[in-house]
Formats: sequence, C-alpha cells, structure tokens
Amino acid sequence: MGKIIRKEPLAEGVVLLEIEAERVARSAQVGQFVVLMPYETSERIPISLHNWDRNKGTIEIVFQVVGRTTSELASLEVGEEPYALLGPLGKPLEIKRYGLVVCIGGGLGIPPIYNIARGLREAGNEVISIIGARTASLLILQDRTKSVSDRFLVCTDDGSYGEKGFVTGVLSRLLKSERIDLVIAIGPVPMMEAVANLTRPFGIKTIVSLNPLMLDATGMCGVCRVKVGGETKFACVDGPKFDAHQVDFADLKRRLAMYKEEERRALEEWKARI
Ligand SMILES: Cc1cc2nc3c(=O)[nH]c(=O)nc-3n(C[C@H](O)[C@H](O)[C@H](O)COP(=O)(O)OP(=O)(O)OC[C@H]3O[C@@H](n4cnc5c(N)ncnc54)[C@H](O)[C@@H]3O)c2cc1C
Ligand code: FES
Repeated sequence: MGKIIRKEPLAEGVVLLEIEAERVARSAQVGQFVVLMPYETSERIPISLHNWDRNKGTIEIVFQVVGRTTSELASLEVGEEPYALLGPLGKPLEIKRYGLVVCIGGGLGIPPIYNIARGLREAGNEVISIIGARTASLLILQDRTKSVSDRFLVCTDDGSYGEKGFVTGVLSRLLKSERIDLVIAIGPVPMMEAVANLTRPFGIKTIVSLNPLMLDATGMCGVCRVKVGGETKFACVDGPKFDAHQVDFADLKRRLAMYKEEERRALEEWKARI
C-alpha cells in the first residue's frame, strides 16, 4: 500500500506518479484530490487526482516541481512510498447530463480536466476539450484528453503547436457559434478569471477549481479560505470547485502571494541540504 509503481516524466519539471492506493482508488470520484507528504519531515501538499484504476487499486497524479515539497515528491523513485497519502478529498463534481460541455485545461490543469471530461462524457454529455500551454514541450496528456472528448482543440501561447494564443481565444470563438450549457476551467488563476469574465455575459454556468494554499485539508485550520459569493468558504471541504462567477479572484491572488518569500527560502534550504 502506497508504493510508487510508475514514474514518468511528462515534460520539463512535470512528473506522473502511479501509486498503489486501493482505498483511494475504490472511492475516488470525478474532480477530487489527495494530500501527500513525501517524507515524515515534509509539508502536506494537495494534488488533484488525474486518474484511478479500481481493479488495479492504483491512482495517478501529475505534478509540477515548483518548491520544496514537490521537489521532495519528485525525488521518490519506483518502489518507494510517500510517507503519507490522504484522500480522496474535496467535493466531487456533480456528474449529470448538462448537454454541451466545454472542459478547459491550462498547463497543470490538464491532468484533472482529463477525468472530468471522461466523467461528463460517460454521463452522455457532448464534450469539447480545449487544452493549452505556454509552448509545445509543456503540452501534456494530449492523446488521453483527446480520447475522452468529442471535439479536441489545442493551443500554445507561442504558436509552437496547435492554434497560436490562449485557451480563452478558442473559447471566445466557440461562444459565438455554439449553444454551450456548461464550462469547466482548471489552470492558472488569471486563466480561470479570464474564462469567468468571458462566460458571464452569456449567463453560462461556469465552474473553476481553486488552488489556495492548504494545510490540514479537513476544514479545521482555515488556511484555504476563499471568498465566493461574498461568503468565506474553505476550498478543501466546500470545494475546490466553485461557481466561477461568484469567486473573488483578487482575494485569491493576494492570498496565494502571501508566503512567496518563505517558500523561496524553504526551497533554497532544502537544495543546500541535498
Ligand atoms: C486542490 C488542489 C489541487 C492541486 N493539484 C495540483 C496538481 O494536480 N498538480 C500540481 O502540480 N499542483 C497542484 N496543486 C498545487 C500544488 O499543491 C502546489 O504546487 C504545491 O503545494 C507546492 O508545494 P511546494 O512546497 O513544492 O512549493 P511552495 O514552496 O509551497 O511554493 C512554490 C511556488 O508555488 C506557488 N504555489 C504554492 N502552492 C500553490 C498552489 N496551491 N497553487 C498555485 N501556486 C502555488 C507558490 O506561490 C510559490 O511561488 C494543487 C493545489 C490545490 C489546492
Ligand atoms: S486546508 Fe485547512 S481548512 Fe482547508
């Protein structure tokens, strides 16, 4: 239980881990996440579930190495076990027949968008997936995402693959030609905010997955609080998915930047130790 059975680099600094986690795989639902501690001395970090196999009893996660804890996670090899793995956590996405659904994944938003697109398609929705990255070498999981989509659109900021430009450019065009019933966007905060601003005038239900800092992920510490519809919500237990038109993105950006200096120092200290 907990052993890493596959480790696959997907792009520079982006790693897929397949981990034995029978209980998590058995109860995982669309849109949920896990909390991991690579070592006993590590911080707890939330990572979205990318995929799970109930028969094999395994889960797959994809993460980007950005700071100390994700560097520690990337240093674990096949056969080793993370110190702790907790989940599945978060409210699952409501899977039902909406109609025409657009699933948008930007960068590290692509792994969680994959299981959302799959779940919604299995429920009888028509799924258009739009994935985007800064450049071609950072585009991940294209074949997988395409395999669960009725229509699949790709773009890169620099035009090195697919259409040149942002996912919002592609969405903007679709909004003019299609009768869309639901939009789900996961990716960098500015991207999710831009998607919300685009769909608001059309009155299209839009869901985003928020990524505030988390500590206990049980609703006790309050670290992950976000403002949604003028109310304080805890992303770990009330989310992480919320109505995009109700989210206070300015507050989220401010809170995400709060510990930048401490995070930089923690990474430097860890690098100096290894
Ligand atoms: C519900 C949820 C699901 C997530 N799923 C994934 C996933 O599937 N794959 C993945 O790569 N990451 C995911 N994240 C983000 C991931 O948890 C952070 O990258 C990780 O905590 C960083 O830890 P660290 O110690 O390596 O870096 P830190 O030292 O904590 O931070 C390094 C840098 O990353 C930024 N950062 C830290 N935490 C976050 C965050 N939550 N969101 C955005 N930037 C952050 C910091 O501002 C800093 O600039 C998710 C976050 C949440 C809340
Ligand atoms: S992380 Fe502590 S309340 Fe959500």
